[in-house]
Amino acid sequence: MPLQDSSVPTRPKLHGRKKGHRLRKQRQQLLETLLPTLLFPQADAPVSDPYNLFSRRFEALWLEIGFGDGGHLAWQAKNNPDIGFIGCEPYEPGVAGLLMQVAADDLENIIVHPDDARQIFRRLPDGCISRIFILFPDPWPKKKHHKRRFISHENIDALARLMHPGAELRFASDIDDYIRWTLAMFRGRADFAWMADCPRDWQIRPDDWPATKYERKAAAVGRQGKFLRFRRI
Ligand SMILES: C[S@@+](CC[C@H](N)C(=O)[O-])C[C@H]1O[C@@H](n2cnc3c(N)ncnc32)[C@H](O)[C@@H]1O
Repeated sequence: MPLQDSSVPTRPKLHGRKKGHRLRKQRQQLLETLLPTLLFPQADAPVSDPYNLFSRRFEALWLEIGFGDGGHLAWQAKNNPDIGFIGCEPYEPGVAGLLMQVAADDLENIIVHPDDARQIFRRLPDGCISRIFILFPDPWPKKKHHKRRFISHENIDALARLMHPGAELRFASDIDDYIRWTLAMFRGRADFAWMADCPRDWQIRPDDWPATKYERKAAAVGRQGKFLRFRRI
């Protein structure tokens, strides 16, 4: 399969905000000075060896889609120093939040695509990713908006191509309808297996999976997260 497929739009329509409130000076400065040093290549060309994006050779590459304020991504990067991370987040204050943590902890294993994750899928080679995180994606609760949900067969096809056999995809949501939607989609596929033997497996996060900001906000109003893990076959 060629890396670039001309039938796929390079700029899919993004539903959601990119700009937020005016940023504090330090955050704005980090966007201007630190972000350019961590940028996923912005020219629309194939990235044939994504390991080369980093200053040293890592053991594996993990991808977080919609990292929000970057808390989970920074935690994973800090606790897995031999892994290279690609984080995608179009919301500028979220990117600035991640940069604060990168600067505070001198993290050298994160590359950022400050935009829609779908733009980079087709630019990456087959089987290059070992783990993907999609945590509390926008639930789009109205039925007429369900087609905006990130979990779709089209996006799972793209992610399946990027994941090597044995790679893991982690998904979380506090919206039961989105959990059911995601389970139905993955369980209807031959290329993924749900990694759950008992309810505890989806009710309780593993120790290497910290709570995100959105999870904490949902829990504060009584909505518990559910945690799904799928193995690429
Ligand atoms: C509800 S928030 C959750 C953020 C974070 N994962 C958390 O749990 O705190 C969903 C995030 O996904 C981002 N997002 C939405 N569509 C996206 C896309 N196509 N690619 C990357 N990020 C996306 C949004 O900007 C938003 O920050």
